Amino acid sequence: RLVYVLNGPNLNLLGKRQPHIYGHETLADVEAQCRVLAGELNLELRFHQSNREYEIIDWIHEARAHAAGLAINPAAFTHTSVAILDALNAFEGPVLEVHISNVHKREAFRHHSYVSLRADGVIAGFGTQGYGLALRRLAALIDQAAG
Ligand code: DQA
Repeated sequence: RLVYVLNGPNLNLLGKRQPHIYGHETLADVEAQCRVLAGELNLELRFHQSNREYEIIDWIHEARAHAAGLAINPAAFTHTSVAILDALNAFEGPVLEVHISNVHKREAFRHHSYVSLRADGVIAGFGTQGYGLALRRLAALIDQAAG
């Protein structure tokens, strides 16, 4: 029951970057909360962030080999990256898309997501709590798939 939680560009600045939009928690805080919850849900967790598109693609390829599910906040790559969509299309387990902010309440260019063409579910506007919700849903989907 290995799951990946992947984070795209600028999320390393979480807590410092536009806190009125993204809140005051850091990505390290989010990772710590995910680790506690993953323990409760009996999930093994790989948690990564990168500002580089290829690194995110490489982690998705790595997940392909041995992960049961994946949650991704692709950040700005959500709206631009056919390459991340293609990588996710090569992943067989459940994929959940997470956005801290409600992208639909924001600029029009944030309303379209390439990743949503693959995602089994999308969480947006729940703040950093969205990560925990995604982990719970991944655990349920992995259980379902296992019958
Ligand atoms: C984001 C929303 C994106 O539009 C933006 O580029 C981000 C973060 C979010 O978590 O709300 O960097 O994915």
